Amino acid sequence: MPADTITLSINGMDVTVPQGSTVMDAAKKLSIEVPHFCFHERLSVAGNCRMCLVEVEGAPKPVASCHWPAADGMVVRTNSDTAVKAQKGTMEFLLINHPLDCPICDQGGECDLQDVALGYGSDRTHYCEGKRAVEDKDIGSKIKTVMTRCIHCTRCIRFATEIAGVEEFGATGRGEQMKVGTYVEKALVSELAGNMIDLCPVGALTSKPYAFTARPWELEHTDSIDVFDACGTNIRIDHRDGKVMRVLPRENNAINEEWMTDTARFSWDGLTENRLTHPQMNGKVVGWPKAFEEIAKKLKGKKAVAGVAGNLHSAEDLFSFKALMERLKGKVYADVPKVAKGAGRGAYTLNMPLEKLEEADAVLLVGCNPRFEAPMVNLRLRKAVAKGAKVALVGADTDLTYPHLWLGDTPTALENMLETHKGIKATKPLILIGQDVLNRKDGNAIVALCHQLAGLSKLAEGWQPVHVLPRHTSTVPALDMGYASSADIKPAEALFIYGEGSVDEEAFKKAKLKVYIGTHKTDLAKQCDVVLPAAAFTEKAGCWVNMEGRVQEGGAAVLPPMNAKEDWKIFRALSDVLKCTLPFDTLAQLREGVATVHPAYQKTGEVIAEEWSLPGKAGKLLKSAFKALVVADGFYLSNEILQASPTMHKMQAEFDQAQKNKNMKKAS
Ligand code: SF4
Ligand code: SF4
Ligand code: FES
Repeated sequence: MPADTITLSINGMDVTVPQGSTVMDAAKKLSIEVPHFCFHERLSVAGNCRMCLVEVEGAPKPVASCHWPAADGMVVRTNSDTAVKAQKGTMEFLLINHPLDCPICDQGGECDLQDVALGYGSDRTHYCEGKRAVEDKDIGSKIKTVMTRCIHCTRCIRFATEIAGVEEFGATGRGEQMKVGTYVEKALVSELAGNMIDLCPVGALTSKPYAFTARPWELEHTDSIDVFDACGTNIRIDHRDGKVMRVLPRENNAINEEWMTDTARFSWDGLTENRLTHPQMNGKVVGWPKAFEEIAKKLKGKKAVAGVAGNLHSAEDLFSFKALMERLKGKVYADVPKVAKGAGRGAYTLNMPLEKLEEADAVLLVGCNPRFEAPMVNLRLRKAVAKGAKVALVGADTDLTYPHLWLGDTPTALENMLETHKGIKATKPLILIGQDVLNRKDGNAIVALCHQLAGLSKLAEGWQPVHVLPRHTSTVPALDMGYASSADIKPAEALFIYGEGSVDEEAFKKAKLKVYIGTHKTDLAKQCDVVLPAAAFTEKAGCWVNMEGRVQEGGAAVLPPMNAKEDWKIFRALSDVLKCTLPFDTLAQLREGVATVHPAYQKTGEVIAEEWSLPGKAGKLLKSAFKALVVADGFYLSNEILQASPTMHKMQAEFDQAQKNKNMKKAS
């Protein structure tokens, strides 16, 4: 037996675990379930619910297994009379003040307290005093509170401080007077606050927009991917009768662990509001054949064609759109960074698995704000900081939720670093460059400087120090498929706009035919000659490619509304009318086409490590500052689905108000 392991007996079975494990860890290894509420494997151990009491031979009374250190030779019983009596006693205590709310409680059916009470609860109690009542808190439009149901497990508080990095939640008072909340009544503005709902083992914190709309057993589930950033967060879409009712995270330790952003969690009302439901010509509803004929008629004689793709597309979407544009001899553009010719995939992906970011010992952020551009990256950086990594930021200064050194907002700060950091000690430095930095005139020079800076360190074997942080779901697949940056668009006679991206005003004005293919009635759609209604991400199956270049499949949860169609079907049908038929009739054939042209898409769920060599010509650095990005744009309103969601507008208003209050406090 290795010296750093111990062997103990639980319920008569021997188990060997590493030194430092708790009794609960050892029980888990034997698949023995110990009832618990406050323990959560991704949070620090609080040990305050006492539900996990077990009998340890030699100990004078039952011990809390979630924080009791396992020891060599220890004899534990989780199901002895003593242990079960202690567990039942705790349950009785918990229920003294718990309301009889189950029939009207949104947690019903997925409530830890209900589940554990089934095994350890009793229909008799020793108590006949009145139940304690606690006033509910108004903590904004994300979370509904019924604080009488709170069992003081402090999971929400630990999540806020340890994971989200916002000290917005805490407890006041002791014993019966203990109350959990935001100290002063205010809206929670953390972009990850919704995760507290999943963590709360009871119905004290539930989703406000979902309140009283469905019961969990009525819902069907479809696995999908969050498309509102490039992290590739795994999500589950819960739907009933063809309508999305809520969105929850799915556990994937390599990507999002078990967290998700509030944009993905709460924006489902944007999927039904302000939708394009029928083809339109100059604002009038028409049938599909008429809309296609109009495009064919107006396209005649137009030589210069261009297609601009938006930010929420899957690999199949982008592939089929490009295939159509190519057959019309058109060029395709998207909101992607400019990449030096021949630089390879490493120049625009995160060149290492997301989970490895935690290992960084020094982090330099250049022109990016991972907190809002890539929240799952920010969570990994928080872990790196907790292990001792130092973070420096060059760009617009902002609250990243962890301490950092702001070095300036121009590339000069990077030059200064090169001068002053000759003897840098980090072996796993991480330089993250915002994708828009590459669109600056001095983008190449900045990248070259970052590579030079990384060269100052003696790198650990296999460590990739310099990475671009892609911002959108479409970014990596669009670059893989050869889309050019929208910043380089050349005016064209016919412009196909596929979803909301950056469309150059001049190019838009000059185009004689404007076709919009998309999901929502946006301002851009209203100005186009022909509008074709497409499917949102919940309405189509597809492969989504994240910032690591990882391909993940998502399913179709519901049908597109009314006369709207899946995107690839629109392109396929239009190609027929335009007499340039695309070579696929089914999604499977289309997928095969994608995988043949792009071998990296043959396997799903894998990350292929990429090298990023120095760009050929570096050029000169400019003095202009890096732009402040997503926060200024509005994190909660950064695409057409979010903009259509009334809930997201409320959340953005709360966020703006909190920023205002913060600035006023700073100024005073
Ligand atoms: Fe019932 Fe659970 Fe709600 Fe309490 S929190 S009322 S036990 S469903
Ligand atoms: Fe625990 Fe929920 Fe109470 Fe927070 S609100 S302490 S998560 S029971
Ligand atoms: Fe051990 Fe709460 S789970 S004390």
